[in-house]
Amino acid sequence: MSNDLNALEAKLTGEIAAAADLGVLDAVRVAALGKKGTISELLSGLGKMAPDERKSFGAAINTLKSRVAETLDARKSALETAALSAKLATERADVTLPVRLGGMADGRIHPVSQVFDEIAEIFADMGFRIAEGPDIESDDLNFTKLNIPPEHPARQMHDTFYLNTPNSAHGTSASPFVLRTHTSPVQIRTMMSQKPPIRIIAPGRVYRMDSDATHTPMFHQIEGLVIDESTHFGHMKWCLEEFCKAFFEVEQVKMRFRASHFPFTEPSAEVDVGAEAIGKPGQWLEILGCGMVHPKVIANCGLDPDKYQGWAFGMGLDRITMLKYGIPDLRDMFSADLRWLRHYGFSAFDVPTLAGGMSG
Ligand code: PHE
Repeated sequence: MSNDLNALEAKLTGEIAAAADLGVLDAVRVAALGKKGTISELLSGLGKMAPDERKSFGAAINTLKSRVAETLDARKSALETAALSAKLATERADVTLPVRLGGMADGRIHPVSQVFDEIAEIFADMGFRIAEGPDIESDDLNFTKLNIPPEHPARQMHDTFYLNTPNSAHGTSASPFVLRTHTSPVQIRTMMSQKPPIRIIAPGRVYRMDSDATHTPMFHQIEGLVIDESTHFGHMKWCLEEFCKAFFEVEQVKMRFRASHFPFTEPSAEVDVGAEAIGKPGQWLEILGCGMVHPKVIANCGLDPDKYQGWAFGMGLDRITMLKYGIPDLRDMFSADLRWLRHYGFSAFDVPTLAGGMSG
């Protein structure tokens, strides 16, 4: 009897070792351990044996059964490992190869879009959110609520595009709609719809009737607004300084706050940066207007100016784009010239991050 078992074991071991793939191996398993397999049949024959014989023979078959099961498992995992290695060998990826860009390589991100992404990244890190407003704005939000009443001389300075409406066409009253002359109406929209503390930046197109080498009728600004119960001019200076250092990617930046006037801020300032940051020592370049939000503006938005205070700034996006990337003529920025875009534009993969670098 035990000779028969030894022979069976040798036969099965041989078949297992010879199984070249998982399918063949499984057939061997079924033929030995399946319901009608050789080993299973031997086990079911036990019932017909004398008790003594059954005891010793049963133990021997069970030992055989577990040894065969072990051999099957070992062969199975060996075959699986071999299959995986074969797959890895044929599907190898060389991660040092350059990326195949395809069509993605042809498209370019406009420098103004790129710079906006850079600015958003820097201010997001300081806890600012992004707010937006429409290009067609009411006269009330663009001027009146910003403490620029009708007949105020600042309205002339803005060279406003007024929209024709039935009213203005009949000459009965001024048009209530304009192409916004600055992003400051987004300050109003934000204060009217959100409770302080407020920390936002608002990018967008603005329009003024003006056109020469340094002015285009449409250009871009980015507004900043912070409102809470105690923020002050010093916080504004710090934020703007941190912004300039991160944006121009320099350790130190020379800044000059010049007293200025805006109807919606008091006190007001204009900010120049020392142009050595961009390789032009000795020159100052104006980049933004700013100030403490006028209490009247806060009240116009339905907030209590005795409780809340804050500061705002408005920066010329195109201007700092030209400064940072050495673009000489503002008009080229909006001429939709593919050659210009190929030269000055950015790859879609140049996503600015504080950790990875601002200018890609
Ligand atoms: N809106 C102003 C302009 O267009 C800039 C500004 C914004 C100034 C916010 C102060 C505060 O010139």
